[in-house]
Amino acid sequence: MNIILLGPPGAGKGTQARHLVETRGMVQLSTGDMLRAARSSGTEMGKKVAEIMDAGKLVTDEIVIGLIEEQLTSQKGAGFIFDGFPRTLAQADALAALLGKLGQSLHTVIEIRVDDEELVKRISGRFTCAKCGEVYHDETRPTKAEGVCDACGSTEMVRRADDNEDSLRTRLMEYYKKTSPLIGYYYAKGDLRPVNGMAEVKQVTASIEAILG
Ligand code: AP5
Repeated sequence: MNIILLGPPGAGKGTQARHLVETRGMVQLSTGDMLRAARSSGTEMGKKVAEIMDAGKLVTDEIVIGLIEEQLTSQKGAGFIFDGFPRTLAQADALAALLGKLGQSLHTVIEIRVDDEELVKRISGRFTCAKCGEVYHDETRPTKAEGVCDACGSTEMVRRADDNEDSLRTRLMEYYKKTSPLIGYYYAKGDLRPVNGMAEVKQVTASIEAILG
């Protein structure tokens, strides 16, 4: 079963993807994580990617489609969770073609709906474990012991360079201009299933589980 988690920055895509990986053995393909790995490589491409990401703009379709293609052919599991991909109509078409080439298809597109004001709160309080990637929030999901990851015990926590108000404004603009047309695109194909992302994490998880069956 292959699914897309679609939603604006901070909607909870990564949080929900991690749950599905743990409970269902699915493979999370996050283009944001892949690009963060590319930027830390220090290559010319990595430097360009870093500039674009920090400004909150979208990286070119060519780069992200290439990254997804590489992962689709090398990873195996109980289906793929596309987290933060596709983000443009060209990426959506490329994904359909790539899955078709592998004899696979898309099961469902889950749209996580969250109000803009709430997104600002979520992004500004987010931090993650540098070692295992567990996602936390200063107010809504702090670590049990201060500064220690609940999942792996690491004490190295990081905040993303693009989690600031200016970048977030651009990221939201990019979402509404380039990514939100995908809502209509997948609705017309009959694949779209919206969930209320304003609910608590566990309730959002339950809504997604109910859709996936
Ligand atoms: P990416 O890493 O994909 O970032 P994003 O889409 O902006 O999404 P986020 O990771 O910010 O949020 P999320 O929805 O995963 O929320 P999370 O679960 O962390 O992309 C970064 C950049 O890379 C882009 O700007 C672009 O430059 C580039 N890029 C990536 N993919 C690309 C593509 N396909 N094409 C071109 N460029 C691309 O949750 C957020 C916070 O809220 C956390 O603190 C969490 O604890 C909390 N939270 C989660 N759920 C709830 C809840 N239900 N209630 C309360 N708090 C909650």
